[in-house]
Amino acid sequence: MNPLALELNETLKGSVVEALFSDMGKRLYFPNGIISQGGEAAKDAYFANGTIGMAVAGGTPIELDSYKKNMPSLNSRETVAYAKTAGSPDIRALWKEKIIEKNPNLKGKNFSLPVLVPGLTAVLSYVADLFIDADKPLLAADPCWDNYELITCARRGADFHQFKCFENGKFNLAGLEAAMKADADKYGSVRVLLNFPQNPSGYSPTKDEAKAIVAIVRRLAEAGKKVLVLSDDAYFGLNYEDDIEPQSLFAYMADLHENVLAIKADGPTKEDFAWGFRTGFITFGSKALTDEQYTALTTKFMGAIRSSVSCSATPSQSLVLKALQDPAHEAQKKELRKMLQARYDAVRKFVNTHKSSKLTALPFNSGYFMSFHVEGGIAEDLRKKLLKDKGIGVIQIDPYTLRVAFSSIDEEKIEEVYSQIYDVAEEM
Ligand SMILES: Cc1ncc(COP(=O)(O)O)c(C=O)c1O
Repeated sequence: MNPLALELNETLKGSVVEALFSDMGKRLYFPNGIISQGGEAAKDAYFANGTIGMAVAGGTPIELDSYKKNMPSLNSRETVAYAKTAGSPDIRALWKEKIIEKNPNLKGKNFSLPVLVPGLTAVLSYVADLFIDADKPLLAADPCWDNYELITCARRGADFHQFKCFENGKFNLAGLEAAMKADADKYGSVRVLLNFPQNPSGYSPTKDEAKAIVAIVRRLAEAGKKVLVLSDDAYFGLNYEDDIEPQSLFAYMADLHENVLAIKADGPTKEDFAWGFRTGFITFGSKALTDEQYTALTTKFMGAIRSSVSCSATPSQSLVLKALQDPAHEAQKKELRKMLQARYDAVRKFVNTHKSSKLTALPFNSGYFMSFHVEGGIAEDLRKKLLKDKGIGVIQIDPYTLRVAFSSIDEEKIEEVYSQIYDVAEEM
């Protein structure tokens, strides 16, 4: 193994991180090469800096006018220059501030500086690189976003375990606990991905359910099991009902117990309506981690980034940073959220006032989506018929689950779209 990897592993020795690492997690390191020497030179090469593979004139990266004219308010360091491996320090610091603002329970707690990667998918993929292996499965809800299985099974060659997300029309706390316990008993550790607001159901736990989830994790940790809780907060804050837990589970897991490693996947993708920018953040916290260990784990993630995409895109980071600093940003977001709330209210009203022998709405209260349980496992036939006969596009998640992204349907069309879905289902 590379000596730098050995050094990082030595720093992490005895920690929950070491106990949860995959083989790749153990192998990763950040080379003492071009990037770190370039970093040294950026500080100390006062005469001439000949380290970085960019074209520089007068100390500034050269920028073709064909780029510049379309990004007139950004300078060349904010557009064509390489970004740092873990992202711009300014956006990382500001995102951390925002995380604390949105999750007051984290105030005063020791957790990492967020690491910027190209979108939440990259967060999940890197976390899987570091912690998922053939004998270290990932546990997630059923139904869930299909990319979890792709990352776990196809990329990592690991098993993908699922617990039934809902039982008797409620979030299935008992199912979650049983599945986590089964993994923990078999493997000695458990890696669970919890995504709220959830894709595809659009569900977020109530305050009581959130407390119960934390208690499940605490019980396992107290029983000596190592637990990785990965919170996929892609749709964070898009809550449409008052009883929803407003903070991320990460806010409760980050210092829960020394046997718990909490990782937060979030970013502007859905929260800040910037889907194509490809900016996401990995943030982690664990009760007993030292600052040196936080740095070591950040370095491991940097090794994963360096060995795959090298760094994220600079213009997106600059645009997100400026938007987050813009006093008008929150007000603009609020307007869009109001629009989504109105769509949710219209869907809620329809579902509450219509009956179907084929469709049962899964619990939903947040996010971009809602889903139906489809009797008889005919979700794909229903999807095709809606598309062909009515020009309505929806997603078949599995034979029994049909997902509707109300986030992308204008409010005035919702009644008609849902009437068609119910009518076509009834005819089948
Ligand atoms: C639950 C969930 N997590 C992560 C993502 C991916 O986000 P990104 O586009 O930032 O990679 C999605 C996108 O649909 C999602 O639904």
